[in-house]
Amino acid sequence: MSITEHLKSLATGDLFKDAVAEDAFVGRPFYFDFSRMKLLSNDHWKEKVGGIAAGTFLVAVYDNAGDNPEIVLLRVLGPTMLPSDSDVVASMVEHYKENAGADTAADKLDSYTRFEFQFSGLECRVLGSFYKDLSGKTCFGADVDNFYGPNNYSVYRPTGPVLEYIVNFRDGEAIPGGKGDQRIGAVRYASSRRHAGAAEVPVYVNAFDYLGKRTALFGMTRTGKSNTVKMVIKATAELAPSGAQLDGKPVKPIGQIIFDVNGEYANDNQQDEGTAIYQLHSADVTRYSILDKPGFKVMKLNFFEDVVAGFEMLRSSLQDDKAIYTQAFMNVDWEPADPMDKSASTRFDRRKSCYQAILTAAGFARPQNFKIKFTGAKEINGPTGIDPKLGVTPEQAITWFTWVWNNYDSDPFFSNYKQKRGREWADEDLKSLMRFLTRKAKPGGQATEAGFRKLIPMRDHHTATLQQSYEEEVVDLLRAGKIVIIDLSQGDPGLQRTYSDRLCIAIFRDGMKRFIGNQESNFIQMYFEEAHNLFPKKSDSDLTVIYNRIAKEGAKLNLGLIYATQEVSSISANVLKNTQNWFVSHLNNNDELREVAKYYDFEDFVESLRRTTDKGFIRMKTYSNAFIVPVQIERFSAVQS
Ligand SMILES: Nc1ncnc2c1ncn2[C@@H]1O[C@H](COP(=O)(O)OP(=O)(O)OP(=O)(O)O)[C@@H](O)[C@H]1O
Ligand SMILES: [Mg+2]
Repeated sequence: MSITEHLKSLATGDLFKDAVAEDAFVGRPFYFDFSRMKLLSNDHWKEKVGGIAAGTFLVAVYDNAGDNPEIVLLRVLGPTMLPSDSDVVASMVEHYKENAGADTAADKLDSYTRFEFQFSGLECRVLGSFYKDLSGKTCFGADVDNFYGPNNYSVYRPTGPVLEYIVNFRDGEAIPGGKGDQRIGAVRYASSRRHAGAAEVPVYVNAFDYLGKRTALFGMTRTGKSNTVKMVIKATAELAPSGAQLDGKPVKPIGQIIFDVNGEYANDNQQDEGTAIYQLHSADVTRYSILDKPGFKVMKLNFFEDVVAGFEMLRSSLQDDKAIYTQAFMNVDWEPADPMDKSASTRFDRRKSCYQAILTAAGFARPQNFKIKFTGAKEINGPTGIDPKLGVTPEQAITWFTWVWNNYDSDPFFSNYKQKRGREWADEDLKSLMRFLTRKAKPGGQATEAGFRKLIPMRDHHTATLQQSYEEEVVDLLRAGKIVIIDLSQGDPGLQRTYSDRLCIAIFRDGMKRFIGNQESNFIQMYFEEAHNLFPKKSDSDLTVIYNRIAKEGAKLNLGLIYATQEVSSISANVLKNTQNWFVSHLNNNDELREVAKYYDFEDFVESLRRTTDKGFIRMKTYSNAFIVPVQIERFSAVQS
């Protein structure tokens, strides 16, 4: 049976009848309000249903419902006090004392006492209620609109098809079994599987839940975040070909871009056993990398043309270099000058020209017929024989700036200039650049510093060609519904950030342009691993940061965001608040758990999240599901083979 047929057959069952099963009975409530129910259970009933773990779903069925049935959905939180508890404890202790030393076996209890001892109280959270609307359709409301005396309810533990119906129940119009459903895993309550014997209860997620939405994956390392991401990518890739419809129109092919910091989606790896994403969807996948590699396109930048971005990359590659002159070089300001301010523009052009001279000195291949143009000064142009106003080669620019630095302290032009104008001819930034170019700490001194040679390793990231930039190419692929994997595994975090910032900005701009132009856009899903390295910090509510903008405005542009990290607390509240899908696995400390506990009813899972470290054991809240379902996620490689 296909997933669709299976789910459809499930949907035809009658929850209100099927939930009431003699052998699934676990107890009777003695307290009930809008958010909590407490019930009396006993060892016999618990045993019969295979035990009750924390987090187990229970249903409380209203006994006298008639035509208007109601089922309250509950989640077990833990034990609760019974009024008789203190008496029971007292007599239990008494019993132990009496038997201490004596040879009587501990089970020699009179039957009345034994009966008393086996009762216990359970506290449950009320998750909502199932009811029938006027047309007889089963609906779920995330609350209860009324409560009768607790004695009117009987509580059962749903299993099998009934539980499957409950955990896969979809809000609103979407019927389970629609196109795009993926079996993502099976219900799992506890790390211990002692009682798990019975058949697995599958959990499905519809790929529409991810489109244009924000999806978070939180958990410590090696707990199955990437595995889950792969399941999401697969479901998304299969959605459009399935012929699924949105608002009555077929879904356009969905673009997916994966920022692969560890190279695990783009390359073969042991853990996926030959099922890395690029292999499965090879026809639709284009891989990009930072450095040349067979099978990959390379993302390169024209450093001569793209001054700001190129400089940003140099800056991130030099960030650990503490030499003072290097720091000064890295702090050169590229804020464009006010075009009305002539002197500022002239100075900006000189800085830029000197920078291009440095690139040439460091062996960055220049674009064809490349000329540098800026306003010189006749006192310099004369001795050098070079007038840069007319456009000069980079080598001539090197000569020109080198002459300036060599003579900066000795030529009267510079001292006269200072005297007359009250400021130096070269600003601090230009001086830093000339020092970097000539490798001379002092004007006219010896070339003793490394200077421009520090940039040589970055030549690999440069291209002299003026073809379509990689950003435009990537945007085109995504618009055509392809999968793009950006292999960032060869870059340091600074470089990774530069590349992902640039791509995200390009994608966001394209989306904005289409939105304003009232053009239809397909969905683009963006995947980020180790998101704490890229995303703005918690304190950072700066909306100019591209990830904040995508989180806040992405929905209207049809941009979806899927991010994985172990540091929940480092993600800005702006992003978290706008996150609809949550996959949370083991977290080992209170700071992170506190953050998660703020959202939905994750506070119910704090204990179990801290304790259980199982791979792929995830508490999942999706957009179309009203409550969290604890799931064991399928292993991606197993689904494939
Ligand atoms: N649902 C699962 N069932 C069984 N094994 C799994 C499951 N999910 C992941 N694993 C295994 O656990 C290991 C780690 O998984 P994964 O790479 O998805 O973790 P991660 O949370 O992304 O870790 P990291 O933070 O290091 O990237 C892998 O070897 C994978 O095969
Ligand atoms: Mg991972």
